[in-house]
Order: sequence, then structure tokens, then C-alpha cells
Amino acid sequence: MEPSTHDLVKEKYGRIATDGGCCGPQSSCCGGGRAAEVALGLGYSEAELATLPEGANLGLSCGNPTALAELKPGETVLDLGSGAGFDLFLAAQRVGPEGRAIGVDMTREMVARARTNAAEFKRRTGLGNVVFHLGQIELLPLADASVDVVISNCVLNLSPDQAAVWKEIARVLKPGGRASISDMALLRRLPEPVRQSVEALVGCISGAPLVDDLRRMMTEAGLEDLRLEPKAGAVAAMLPGDDPLALQLMELLPAGTQPGDFITSLIISARKPLGQTLRKRTPEDLEAVVRLLEAVNLPANGLDRTDGWVIQDGDRIVAHVAIERTPDAAVLRSIVVASDQRGRGLARRLLEAAEADAGGRTLVLKTDAVGPWVERRGYRRVTRDQLPPSVLATTQFEGALCASYPIYLKR
Ligand SMILES: C[S@@+](CC[C@H](N)C(=O)[O-])C[C@H]1O[C@@H](n2cnc3c(N)ncnc32)[C@H](O)[C@@H]1O
Repeated sequence: MEPSTHDLVKEKYGRIATDGGCCGPQSSCCGGGRAAEVALGLGYSEAELATLPEGANLGLSCGNPTALAELKPGETVLDLGSGAGFDLFLAAQRVGPEGRAIGVDMTREMVARARTNAAEFKRRTGLGNVVFHLGQIELLPLADASVDVVISNCVLNLSPDQAAVWKEIARVLKPGGRASISDMALLRRLPEPVRQSVEALVGCISGAPLVDDLRRMMTEAGLEDLRLEPKAGAVAAMLPGDDPLALQLMELLPAGTQPGDFITSLIISARKPLGQTLRKRTPEDLEAVVRLLEAVNLPANGLDRTDGWVIQDGDRIVAHVAIERTPDAAVLRSIVVASDQRGRGLARRLLEAAEADAGGRTLVLKTDAVGPWVERRGYRRVTRDQLPPSVLATTQFEGALCASYPIYLKR
């Protein structure tokens, strides 16, 4: 019987875990002796690497997902295919003692090595927030909606059922949770001999999906805010010309082509939608909206002259924006998000809803808090004398309230 992909992968990474990643003929994401060199080439800093237990970095990465995950203290982070714990030990320091760092890997020897490293990590940092589970990423040993952030570094391409992995990611993420993943992907289909090469498979290459297929799997899993960006220079860092896998590939690839013409390291991010509904404000919402505004000292006067949009989470209103219309402009005011819901894109959803609701009018906004944020969304700063007279008659502009705040406009 032919060995399964899982068997081949376990055999390969079991050997690397036992030998320390320095004895196989291959390097790069495929296990090599240039671990620190590869990591520095992928954007890890020397200071970060110095915090790791010896042998946590086996040179198996193809990106730096932890740097992009924007981990916050107290969060629960899950590393898929955590290997010897490389990224997870960095993540554990970012989520801190109140947070949890969970690794899942199906290779017994890798998990054993990671657990040994965790003891050393605890001795060095005092952090006991790391745990490693033996398990498959196609069937995660974790509860639904239990994780804030999923990270992974050069693993998903090794799975024989990547659609199932994306569904599992969506299942274990909490609503609003995010994925930050580095992986190999294909810019164009690999020639058949490369696709059939076992070395290319376990070297994170022949199992890599086409970028479009990857986007489809993520969408079908129900994730949104997808970002898939090639990481410049990563393939060169992982597969320099003298690398044994690179040499083998060059023999199999059509003359005149390079591995980088076919394969790229991708920075992948996505978010699980919030279980929240965005809808128009009704008169019954007003009391809750006023409470939301008062909690952050925003004025609640004149709301009856506005149309509003709210985001409702269960039976709670967690965000609000109001629009006061004039014949030629729409003044956006009272953009507010409950303090425990910030950083999840709610303000962006509200702004987009209000803009769509403005009926093509010029949009005007007065804010001293989110100026750079609205400028990135096409607003430009103006002075009061550039505003149409109808705007000066709105609640937002008629009194002295917040008179010194900068004004922004978008046509
Ligand atoms: C290329 S290594 C990356 C290790 C680690 N992420 C790093 O950057 O050091 C791939 C790891 O994923 C694990 N792995 C591969 N396929 C897996 C699967 N289907 N389920 C669980 N673990 C898997 C392997 O055992 C191996 O430890």
C-alpha cells in the first residue's frame, strides 16, 4: 500500500525533530542547517530569536505570521503545525501570562520536542501559558469559537485536505477572530514531474495550492477580509541556488525557469465574521445609543434630526453612526464603538454603511480622534469656510460644540 501524505509528512518531520533539523540533505522549509539565517531572511529579529529555547527554530518556516498577527495580551492563539514551537514561543510572549498559546502538530516526535522546549521556555521566561497537542489540523482537538487568533507557518500546503483545514480554522475562531498565516502557494501550475516528487511535497512545494484556489477555500469556509500577498524575497531566502531541493527542482523545471516563477511565499490573513448585525437605527434603539455615546463623553443632542445605523450583538447595541442630511451634504456624526468591541472593524462597517446611505451627497465629518483613519479612506481635511452653508446649520456645526475639531470632507 502507498504511504499516505500524512505518513510521508510524519516520517520526514519526525526525522527532523529527532535529528535536530540539521542532518537531512534538504534545507529551507524542508528542514535545514541554516535555521537562523533563514529566519533572519524572513524578517525575524536577532532579539526575538535570542528568546527561544535552543532547537525551537528548526529552519522550517516560510514567513513570519506572528509579526503580522498583532497579538494582544490576554488573547488565545493557536499555531497549526507548531513544529518545535518556534512561532508559538514568540506568540506566547505577546499574549502574556493572561493569554494562552496552543500548538497542534501530528508528528509525535515534534510534539515531544516542543514539550521539552516549553519546559526550557518556562524556565527562561517564567511563562507557563504554552501547551502542545498531538493532532491533525484537518480535525482540530479544540472547541468551537475558542480561539482569538490562528497562526501557522509553512504547514497548510502539507495537508491533503486544505479545504477541511480552512473549515476547521473558521470553526475554532471566535466571531471576529483572525487568521495570520504564512504558506507556500503557486503562481502557476507545477510541471507534472515536480508535482509527483515526494521531496517537493514534503519540502512544502508540490502541495502548495494555486492562489485562486486558496482564496476560494477561504471564502467557502466563511472567512472575510481576505488578504493574500506574496512575500518578496522569501523563496530566495528559503531556496538559495545551492540548496539541494532547489538543485533538484531546477532539473525538473522547464529550461529557463526558476522556482520563483512557480512558487511564492504568501502572507495570508482573514477574519471570521462577527455574529453581529448591521441595521438601520429604530426609535427603540435611541436609549441604548445615548448610553453608548455618554460612556465616551460624546454629545447625544439632536439625534432626532439624524438617521442612524447600529451594530447589534445579541440584544445589545455595540456601535452606532448617525447621518444628518442637508440637500447637498451628509454630516456623519457620533461614530461610536463599545470599548470591548474595538479593533474588530466595526467602525469601518458603520462608515461604509453610512456612506452608502448618503445618496451621493458630499460627506462631512468632524473628529479629533480618527483623522488619519478617515484620511486613509479618501477624506481630506478642510476648513470651516469651505463648507456649504447648509452644513453649518446642522447640529454638528451650529453651536460651539467641539468647534476646534478638524473637519474632513469626501466627495
Ligand atoms: C514545515 S514544518 C513547520 C513547523 C513550524 N511551523 C515552524 O515554522 O517551525 C511543518 C510542521 O507541520 C506539521 N504538519 C504537517 N501536516 C500536518 C497536519 N496535517 N496536521 C498536523 N500537523 C501537520 C509537521 O509535523 C511539521 O511539524
